Amino acid sequence: MLVVKVLAAFVLLATAQAEVEFPSGEMFEPIEDLSSLGALESELQDPKNTGSQVYDSEGFEAFGLSLNFDVSDFKSPTSRYFRAHPAFMSCLQRTYNVLRRTEETVVIAEGYRVAADSPSDVYLQTGAAAVIQLEEEDATTTIQELAAIVIEICVPIFQEVQGDIGLVLFSDKLQVQLQGADETGPLFRAEAGASMNTAAFETWAWGQIDETYEPISVPECPADADSLASGETFPTGITAPEDEVGDIDYPVTRDKVEDFKRLTQYPASNIVFDNEERSGAWCGSEDRGRCVDCSTRMLGSSLDDRCADRVMSKALLDHLRTVQRMVQDEFSGVKLKVLEAWDEPHAGATTGDHPAGSLHYEGRAAKLTLSDGDAAKLPRLAAFCICDGAGYVENKGDHILVAVQKQEGFTPTFIEFPETTLFEVTPPAEMEGNYTLEPEQYTDNDTLPMPLFDSDKREAEEIGANVTIGDFKDPAARYFRLSPQIVQCYEAVALRENKWNKLGEMYRHIAVLEGYLTTENQGEYFNMSDPRYDRHTLGWAMRVGYYGDEIYDHEKYSPLRLATFAVIKCGPLFDDIGKGIGVGLYRNSTFIDIRDDTEFWADDPDLLPVNVTESDWAGEMAMLLDYAIEGRIIEPDSLERACLHSDPPAKQSAEFQHVHVEAVKRRRRRREAGEEEEVCIPRSDTEFCTETTPHREVEVAHIWGEVKRKHLFRPEADVKAALEGCFGACGTCLEGAIMEDKTEHCNNFLHWVNFNFLNDEPDITNFWARDNQELKAQACRDHCIVKAPVFSLLAPSIEELYRPDPKKSVQEQIYSMANNPSPVMELMQIIYAAHASGKVEFYVEDAAEMQSLRAPLKVVLVFNKNVSEVIINAVDVEAAEGVVQNLVFEWTKSSCPDDTREFITPFSIVEMPSGIAKRSPEHEIREMMLERHRNWEHDWISSSFG
Ligand SMILES: *[C@@H]1O[C@H](CO)[C@@H](O)[C@H](O)[C@H]1NC(C)=O
Ligand SMILES: *[C@@H]1O[C@H](CO)[C@@H](O)[C@H](O)[C@H]1NC(C)=O
Ligand SMILES: *[C@@H]1O[C@H](CO)[C@@H](O)[C@H](O)[C@H]1NC(C)=O
Ligand SMILES: *[C@@H]1O[C@H](CO)[C@@H](O)[C@H](O)[C@H]1NC(C)=O
Ligand SMILES: *[C@@H]1O[C@H](CO)[C@@H](O)[C@H](O)[C@H]1NC(C)=O
Repeated sequence: MLVVKVLAAFVLLATAQAEVEFPSGEMFEPIEDLSSLGALESELQDPKNTGSQVYDSEGFEAFGLSLNFDVSDFKSPTSRYFRAHPAFMSCLQRTYNVLRRTEETVVIAEGYRVAADSPSDVYLQTGAAAVIQLEEEDATTTIQELAAIVIEICVPIFQEVQGDIGLVLFSDKLQVQLQGADETGPLFRAEAGASMNTAAFETWAWGQIDETYEPISVPECPADADSLASGETFPTGITAPEDEVGDIDYPVTRDKVEDFKRLTQYPASNIVFDNEERSGAWCGSEDRGRCVDCSTRMLGSSLDDRCADRVMSKALLDHLRTVQRMVQDEFSGVKLKVLEAWDEPHAGATTGDHPAGSLHYEGRAAKLTLSDGDAAKLPRLAAFCICDGAGYVENKGDHILVAVQKQEGFTPTFIEFPETTLFEVTPPAEMEGNYTLEPEQYTDNDTLPMPLFDSDKREAEEIGANVTIGDFKDPAARYFRLSPQIVQCYEAVALRENKWNKLGEMYRHIAVLEGYLTTENQGEYFNMSDPRYDRHTLGWAMRVGYYGDEIYDHEKYSPLRLATFAVIKCGPLFDDIGKGIGVGLYRNSTFIDIRDDTEFWADDPDLLPVNVTESDWAGEMAMLLDYAIEGRIIEPDSLERACLHSDPPAKQSAEFQHVHVEAVKRRRRRREAGEEEEVCIPRSDTEFCTETTPHREVEVAHIWGEVKRKHLFRPEADVKAALEGCFGACGTCLEGAIMEDKTEHCNNFLHWVNFNFLNDEPDITNFWARDNQELKAQACRDHCIVKAPVFSLLAPSIEELYRPDPKKSVQEQIYSMANNPSPVMELMQIIYAAHASGKVEFYVEDAAEMQSLRAPLKVVLVFNKNVSEVIINAVDVEAAEGVVQNLVFEWTKSSCPDDTREFITPFSIVEMPSGIAKRSPEHEIREMMLERHRNWEHDWISSSFG
């Protein structure tokens, strides 16, 4: 099996190396050995050495070389084989794209041609040239305008492959080519009948190159922006540019071809160059024996035609092209002048003009002045550099020194981390091997590995709260990869560890023991069968642990604890980016990573809780992960506040004692101290209360009579007092002291009374919104609250009516919402829910009905640990879902974990089963018996939950 895999990888590698990717995304395999084509060999040669290659079109005619140009559009009509160049196709495609914006279409009039096709120009035999035209008869774009677009689009593309543009202007068409390696500089030629002659075309075209290298936008730099007087630096206090932008790895020279290629040459003339080496005996090396004069204009873009001063890193070029625009905008007629950019040895300075290690040798520093030589403008020039975000700027008196960080490409690819922003870099060619990842190191579905970042001089920088770049990087390597989600995960775990700390409690630091590791260095830690292998190298993993000296209780502050935090806090973060989580238990540390398929493992069974197997633990973690992703873990932001308001329900018991929630106690204290204004001022001296006193006494006596028939478990005096405080009391307001007292007495009475709820058996408890008679039939098919003996005992009293004026027939409730509200019904629902176990079902029509059941719903979802499942049958599923999701979100954030379940009970909201309205004869009878309850239920529900 292993052999096959290795072999497959080898084959993949062998073909992958040869294939060339075109802008269409298609991979084409070039024919490297033309002699295999026999007589065709000479016909297929590139006469201009453009770097194009030969491909076989058979079977590939309809394949795209670019989005809109297929092989058949470009190849010779008479030859099966064709030459092509990806950069050239990219130039054509992007030109096409620009013209499409004005609804015009570029077509290839002549693409690759063999000699036998009698091409209009020998360049067409290179495969890096084409004659293009506009398709529409009445095209509004002129050929000269087309040439302007091609220059703007293709000059930078060709610069990337160190090539120059060639354009031949005709009256009705344009020949575009990538100049061969043997040519020097760009070509601009006009044919007879064109809109200009060659000399005019040339001048115009160079002007277009200048346009191309203008910045897209220029930052604001107000007159009072920070400028630098002679001797001053930015940032203040830094005196060596390397301290701010990082050291060079090694000097780039012409013979370090890969590194030299990555630098770029400024081809335009908006910036002027000193180019003082131009007349030297040699530049680069004595063997080369050549210096290029680029003082008026660049010579060419091939590596050997580049001149040192015009060469720099892409980031520096991008910066300078903005600064030059700021200079021209402010100082009319004055241009930015570069004295030195990249530097190399030359005659008279055999190690270059700068001390060893200078940033100039990586093309990341430039010495700047202005074309008018006016030193008085230098402070403002420094301001321009600062405004455009240069890393380091210094006014050296007679020039400005500017330096930039390492960066991939012209414009930075920013990656946002919680506390900082990093951008992608490429290490120098000789070190790239230390950081290269083979495709086998990440699966096909992994998004590409994280880009590399540079840690030099930035190790102490915070990347997340209380965690630095240095914490995550490989201590033995400068560059590192790191996913922002790993840093967010670190922050979330550290926050979870500490967010409930009490005042003065020690902050427990979580240490990152390993973050990124180079491919080479991970070999010291893991072998290939280790689940951590290749994870740190992607920047998608970390190993964390407690700082040993700050943790006294290793039982509690264990890898297991961090693993649980990782699952509930990082699992959802990784899920957001479509990934799973890996969590491994190790001695004194926990490994966490982002991976495609979630996995949990323990390095040693001793790390698991006693008598728990690895698979049981993994199963539990998988369950927690699901709950965390669904937002069902009960985890308030403030433990203190949540527990202050916590009001856990309890089953009936003689030992029960109602205690006011801490929040109520505080409210009472504030009221007593006169510090709190009340919305409703509770009163018991109302006419209603006086009038109904005898009626309440009748109810108390009636209930007491029933209660006394059976054995009581709590002293009679207590129960009687509670009954009187509940049913005998009278007072207004749903809040305030009277209601609080009623609640205390009613709650005690309901817990102590010798009539029970009878729903302790599993899977029998049902709730419905109580003004819905149809759903009541369904809910009460099994057990529901009206079947509870305690309900039968108390409901008649709650609904009892009296006639305020004996002469009139109008009746009123003794415990009416307006005059004397009673908490009994809600408390009964809550205690009923506290007795439930197993599966619990709800029946609701819509959002309002769902809302009316929030009290018992909270008990079974948040508190009752014996409930295993909650099913909510809803007519309007979406509406009910909306209410439940909001409540669950609120409860997970506001409940006190000391009192609650660890997570919200699994619940589902389902379509109301059909045939619900069908009732058995038994139900009909029950319905009639219960009819009399309706009126008060309706009033009670709508007023207490509305
Ligand atoms: C990649 O993802 C697709 C769909 O998400 C899945 O069908 C396929 O099996 C995955 N391939 C690998 C190699 O994981
Ligand atoms: C960082 O650590 C300190 C203790 O060293 C702690 O007080 C602080 O809250 C932590 N900051 C964050 C954002 O976690
Ligand atoms: C880079 O790779 C080379 C060759 O494999 C090795 O000698 C060197 O130690 C590596 N450096 C780092 C920082 O890993
Ligand atoms: C590792 O954990 C053990 C207990 O499991 C503890 O005794 C020991 O001190 C820990 N070591 C460190 C370095 O924290
Ligand atoms: C673990 O299992 C053993 C054997 O079944 C038992 O004797 C022991 O009490 C269990 N320990 C715990 C903490 O459950």
